[in-house]
Amino acid sequence: MIVLGIETSCDETGVALYDPARGLLAHALHSQVDLHAVYGGVVPELASRDHVRRLLPLLRRVLAQAGLAPGEVGGVAYTAGPGLAGALLVGAAVGRSLAWAWGVPAVGVHHMEGHLLAPMLEEDPPAFPFVALLVSGGHTQLVAVDGVGRYRLLGESLDDAAGEAFDKTAKLLGLPYPGGPALAALAEQGDPERFRFPRPMVDRPGLDFSFSGLKTYTLTTLREEEARAADAAARARLHADIARAFEEAVVDTLAIKCRRALEQTGLARLVVAGGVSANRRLRARLAAEVERLGARVYYPRPEFCTDNGAMIAYAGWCRLAAGQHEPLAFTARPRWSLESLPPVAGGGLPPGAV
Ligand code: KG4
Ligand code: ZN
Repeated sequence: MIVLGIETSCDETGVALYDPARGLLAHALHSQVDLHAVYGGVVPELASRDHVRRLLPLLRRVLAQAGLAPGEVGGVAYTAGPGLAGALLVGAAVGRSLAWAWGVPAVGVHHMEGHLLAPMLEEDPPAFPFVALLVSGGHTQLVAVDGVGRYRLLGESLDDAAGEAFDKTAKLLGLPYPGGPALAALAEQGDPERFRFPRPMVDRPGLDFSFSGLKTYTLTTLREEEARAADAAARARLHADIARAFEEAVVDTLAIKCRRALEQTGLARLVVAGGVSANRRLRARLAAEVERLGARVYYPRPEFCTDNGAMIAYAGWCRLAAGQHEPLAFTARPRWSLESLPPVAGGGLPPGAV
């Protein structure tokens, strides 16, 4: 069954076609970065309207890329949550309507399940069970994954998500939206010895995170040191050094909690997904950490770390193939617990082909 995947939960319109026999057939993405950049963050109403504009042209593009007629699509998967309500409703309405018109089943996919399963699209996918670190703009979660839909939340952020902390701190440093990649680039020029920022919540047991205190610490340091900076060059150096200290603190915190999660569960596979998993320093740090534990870490390819339609097509296929689908009514779930998802018998892995 060829599945069409539609992602519209935030500021990226993603469309993809997945075939369990041949793997990913086509995918296309439109990023709204330019649209929101002038506002310094995502404007929900503009996001919804842009999804309306982009979705059908992207759909035509992936069908053409794959050389498929609409009648060859066997099911439709759309992101039903969590995310921005209006943005989600665009994907849900279009996805459900296409499925109705084509006479095929539709399924609403949990966005974080999409991220979590994205490494399954790679050549050497992880086997179940594994620990997943989900690090996106809206979520930071450690999850024990026994199969598709068999999720146990081990820990999560009590306040800001890791990506959100990157974005807010980048804003403090005057960097453009989206802040994560910009901050990471600036951190490359920073001196790692100048500041050491606190690693939040690593001195107590448990696998929860908290990044809002780190953001405040960054702001305080920035204000104090800026008052002392002699000239523009010193200020530029300060910003790079602060970016570096902030990134080191977040990466170190995430790595420490991943190690704990692997030790606590006794699992030897770690999946890291969501926008922040594109971060190079995080990848290097986790590689060292899992090697020490004799474990292995799996990532989606860089373009599928951030939001995309491919992961939704894949997660949707897992559920459609197991017979799950929606009634004709559709809904969006801006808040939605990963643990409430129904399990998929047998794990939902494609027969040797991804
Ligand atoms: O998964 P994603 O595309 O969207 C959500 O589901 O939220 O994640 C976006 C987040 C943003 O906060 C962005 O700043 C962050 O991922 N991000 C990064 C990097 N690339 C994207 N953060 C740190 N370093 C990066 N290289
Ligand atoms: Zn995401």
